[in-house]
Amino acid sequence: MKNVSGVTIANRTLANLQAAYNGESNAHVRYLAFAIRADEDGYLRVGSLFRAAARAEQIHAANHAQVIRKLGATPEAVIETPIIRSTRENLETAIEGEVYERDIMYPEFLKIAEEEKNASAMRTFEFALEAEAEHARLYTEALQKLEAMKQKTVFLVCSVCGFTTEKNDFDRCPVCHNPRERFEKID
Ligand SMILES: [Fe+2]
Ligand SMILES: [Fe+2]
Repeated sequence: MKNVSGVTIANRTLANLQAAYNGESNAHVRYLAFAIRADEDGYLRVGSLFRAAARAEQIHAANHAQVIRKLGATPEAVIETPIIRSTRENLETAIEGEVYERDIMYPEFLKIAEEEKNASAMRTFEFALEAEAEHARLYTEALQKLEAMKQKTVFLVCSVCGFTTEKNDFDRCPVCHNPRERFEKID
C-alpha cells in the first residue's frame, strides 16, 4: 500500500492481527498452566475459569488466523513458557493482561482496522474485546473472593466469539447471537 507521497506503508491491521494472534496463542497456553496450578492449590473454580478462558483465547486466535490468511499471510506465534506462581499471583497476572487488551490493545487495533476499512478484522477484534472484558471481570471477582472459589464450576464459552459466562439464562450470545446450544461447556 502507498500513501499520497508514494511511500510504501505497511498494512497496520495485518501487523496488529499478528500481534493479537501471538497474544491469544500465548494466553491460551498460560491459562492452561494456571488452571493446573489452581487445581493443585485447591481453587477448583479458578481452575475451571482458567480452562474456559483458555478455550476462549484459542477461539480468538483461530478467528484472527482466519483473517490473517484472508490477507494472504501466515499466522505466526512465538510460544513462551509460562511463568507460574501462586494462584493469587497468577490471577493478578491474568487481570493485568486482560485489562491491557480491553483498555489499550483492542480499542487501538479496532480504531486502525476501521480506518483501513477492514470489516473482518474489526469483527474479530470486537469479539475478543468483549470476551476479554468479561474475563477481566471474572478474574477480578475470583481474586476478591478467592477463598470461596473451591468448587469446580461449569462455564459456557461461545464457539464463535469466545464470550465466557457461568450464567445459563440466555438464548443467544449477547455478543455474536450464536444460540446457547452451540456454547461449549468447560469445567
Ligand atoms: Fe481473555
Ligand atoms: Fe458469541
